[in-house]
Amino acid sequence: MPKIVETIVTTSDGDGNVHIAPLGLIADGDHWLIGPFKPSRTLDNLRAVPFAVASHTQDVRVFAGCLTGRKDWPLKRAGKVPGSYLAVSQSHWELKVVDIEEDDVRPKFRCKLVHQEAHAPFAGLNRAQAAVIECAVLVSRLKMLEADKIEAELKYLEIAISKTAGPEELEAWSWLMERVDAWRVDQKNK
Ligand SMILES: Cc1cc2nc3c(=O)[nH]c(=O)nc-3n(C[C@H](O)[C@H](O)[C@H](O)COP(=O)(O)O)c2cc1C
Repeated sequence: MPKIVETIVTTSDGDGNVHIAPLGLIADGDHWLIGPFKPSRTLDNLRAVPFAVASHTQDVRVFAGCLTGRKDWPLKRAGKVPGSYLAVSQSHWELKVVDIEEDDVRPKFRCKLVHQEAHAPFAGLNRAQAAVIECAVLVSRLKMLEADKIEAELKYLEIAISKTAGPEELEAWSWLMERVDAWRVDQKNK
């Protein structure tokens, strides 16, 4: 399996409207692959405007927020490509699409890194941040995964949250748990 880096990707439509979504960028030699599932705004935007900006942030509220309807995160204009990066990012990559591998489910946009910038010092590894990202992935797949698997993974991820989370991670976790609670109610009513 290739390396995947979890980022916050911004893309733009033809009218300059910016869209923000967490996406995993897949390492592909000197390039990075962006693989948006069909249908998605990110996919439509990459076809309309073949550039993306990937922000690297330790503020995991952005990952949880984007998945729970909180998409209004302050952005700053990118330097070399049309687009914007997250104001709370430690660093960002500016990417240009160089070709598209078409697929019925998940086309892959091969991107060249044309520019990168650092904005803030890396503040160290934190298990709760990783747990929030894992949980955000689970929440994005609630309809696809087995209920037992989801509950087992949540139980494990809660350990890192209870032992190592700070206020930002706790807030991100609480937003995700709102979604999980709604999903649990749906499961009971099935
Ligand atoms: C850490 C993380 C990684 C994700 N990676 C992908 C991805 O590679 N492709 C994708 O289509 N969705 C991915 N998702 C889910 C998308 O963020 C979410 O479905 C989003 O709404 C995409 O649709 P949109 O472009 O219409 O907003 C990821 C979510 C998380 C939390």
